Amino acid sequence: MNLDWPPTDELFPGEEYIKYAEVYDLLFKDFGVDIAFYVQAAARLAAAGGTILELGAGTGRLTLPLLEAGYHLIGVEPSGSMLERARLRLARYEERARLVHIDAQSMQFSERFKLAIAPYGMVAHLHTDAERLAVFRNVHAHLAPGGIFLFDDMPGWLAGPSDGSTLDLYRTAHDTVTGMTVRLMTNVIDVADQPLSVRYDLIDWLNADQRVARRLVVRIRFRNISLEQELALLKQAGFARVDLLGGFDGRSFCHDDLTRNSRLILQCHRDA
Ligand SMILES: C[S@@+](CC[C@H](N)C(=O)[O-])C[C@H]1O[C@@H](n2cnc3c(N)ncnc32)[C@H](O)[C@@H]1O
Repeated sequence: MNLDWPPTDELFPGEEYIKYAEVYDLLFKDFGVDIAFYVQAAARLAAAGGTILELGAGTGRLTLPLLEAGYHLIGVEPSGSMLERARLRLARYEERARLVHIDAQSMQFSERFKLAIAPYGMVAHLHTDAERLAVFRNVHAHLAPGGIFLFDDMPGWLAGPSDGSTLDLYRTAHDTVTGMTVRLMTNVIDVADQPLSVRYDLIDWLNADQRVARRLVVRIRFRNISLEQELALLKQAGFARVDLLGGFDGRSFCHDDLTRNSRLILQCHRDA
């Protein structure tokens, strides 16, 4: 019997977000725990009005506050439907925002940046060491001397494997188009013997009786690697110095404090 487990079908970068684009902005409309962190990092690390490189810009959730803060930005995003939403959202900043439909592995720009960012777990979508290394190398090549690559990850697996037995309510929102409440529930399985987590996002529209009128299921795969492996790949790509933070409030990273919802922020330096 073929149980289709663990999932082995090949995905192209960003494919999992094609379906997500429909509901991403609705669910993450008021999500902003990381915004002040990235805007302050830009103020510290990029020249005023300078150009920032953003990998996995998605629908422009974080791109917008960076543009509002006066920066220029090149946003890279392989999922066409996410990018379409970003183009609409950022239309009034057209002159300062260049959105490019490409995978971060193959991007090629003539500019060299003081700051490159990959917000909200983008790097976890790189499923193999080879993909991760290719992106790290490419970012390194796009940084100016002394430039910084800043990204966050959600390394739940560092806090221990998830057996897939729980369904967690992650977000709810009111959909003004249908008048329904939309809820997002997530279920994570860290696949045994594989460096991979599989997350099922169940997105439900609830009618007035709180019954499910529609369900959208998105399956997203994340790569689990140890911190040592991650740092080794960064080093191989040329980032000899990496600072670790344990949250968007700037606290330092402590392995013992990790929970499944912890954030790990990596600030990677290119030599001056
Ligand atoms: C969790 S979403 C974050 C979107 C946005 N940065 C935000 O904070 O709302 C991760 C994004 O990374 C993109 N992504 C996945 N693989 C990528 C790759 N190889 N290169 C660039 N972006 C990628 C996905 O398509 C998705 O839009």
